[in-house]
Amino acid sequence: MTNRNLFEKEVKERAPLQEFKEPNPLPEEIAAQYPTIDLVSIDLSQYEEGNSGLEKRKALAKQLETALSTSGFFHLSNVGLAPEVFNRVRSIGQLLMSIPDEEKVQYLAGALTSDEEDRSKSLGGERGSGFKPKKYWSNNNVRDSIEHYNFRDFLHDDIFLSDEGVLKHPKAVRGYLRDISDYFNYLHYEIVRKICNLSDIILEIPEGTLWNNYMRVIDNDPFHSGGGFGRLMRYYNPSPEDEVKTNQSWLRGHSDGSFITVLTSNPILSLQIRDYETGEWKFVTHKPDSLVVNVGDGFEFLSGGYFKSSIHRVHSPVEEQKGETRFQIIYFVDPDRSLVIDPETINSPKLNRLGYHKPKEWEKITFDQWNDNKGRLFGKNAVNNVKGDEPVVVKLFGRLHERWHQVDNAQPPAIAEHERLYGPPTSINV
Ligand SMILES: [Fe+2]
Repeated sequence: MTNRNLFEKEVKERAPLQEFKEPNPLPEEIAAQYPTIDLVSIDLSQYEEGNSGLEKRKALAKQLETALSTSGFFHLSNVGLAPEVFNRVRSIGQLLMSIPDEEKVQYLAGALTSDEEDRSKSLGGERGSGFKPKKYWSNNNVRDSIEHYNFRDFLHDDIFLSDEGVLKHPKAVRGYLRDISDYFNYLHYEIVRKICNLSDIILEIPEGTLWNNYMRVIDNDPFHSGGGFGRLMRYYNPSPEDEVKTNQSWLRGHSDGSFITVLTSNPILSLQIRDYETGEWKFVTHKPDSLVVNVGDGFEFLSGGYFKSSIHRVHSPVEEQKGETRFQIIYFVDPDRSLVIDPETINSPKLNRLGYHKPKEWEKITFDQWNDNKGRLFGKNAVNNVKGDEPVVVKLFGRLHERWHQVDNAQPPAIAEHERLYGPPTSINV
């Protein structure tokens, strides 16, 4: 049995949390003046387990299919989490962000900037456990104003709450690790499991296939378990000059490298999705105490492109909410990392009928290969040092590294530059 004495000691000695004050949501009539996207909203209280609940699950699956195959985003309401639960996790995040900078640098997820990250040794600020400091990423030569903290391994108590696991985190939050673990475990076992089962119904494969094969948790074996990582993320206001240079884009357009991503709905109108057909950026509206879920690249690939891993970004808040604090709780859900991410893996009658097959140019790769190689590019000058919305387009394993849809205007980087940065382009074709 792993030693958990340290965790128990920290729980006894922990300081009380300060209340997190959520910004006020925008009145509906004001939000309506901005371009917003009308997301499918799924009421999770309608999900019923067992044979008797099948018809209800089929009805939800129908709604979910519309969402996954169009914008790739949806609202999830009545998820079974009380407002106090969300607020407690936000308070823990607030506590984390308030510790002195001298202490934060002892708990970095990677290097101080993405460009100096040695990816052969580190998962980097994007995916490693610990802090990503401000200025880690670059967008058109402007450094970001975002701070976040990642947690990993919370589905594995004997790792997360072991003495070694506890010591990975700053002292202030060590006594709160059980709250972090409870929150993300709930998302995994209650939310992700249900989304997987509904997706099975859509794909016409036996219910339980996605969950049992790719999302199950094997004790103390994160690599072969579903899971991924949780993030607490705070956005700070950039300088007015940087706002101009980035065209008010706080986090440039990207698709998530995950399987799916589960976000808390945010009262600040700031998250935008790029319309799949028209390319227009549209804001995601707020539903209190709800989640916003989106398809990541892994699920898009597994579905052969039927489910959409849409480009999204974080824009400077709308005029009425400028200066408010945007704080976000995110669960980037990864499958078993050895999952081969193309539709041949699941052989779905639905996808076969609709004609979603593995394109010839796609190399046969695992989720781990994708996630690792995509992670190496995120936030780097080499792909972000361009004006406008489009990053430099790179192909990884025969697939666009961001699932960007208007690629014709973008310029691929020179192969030589790629070799300098990432080694020989054996797996990167530009
Ligand atoms: Fe994202």
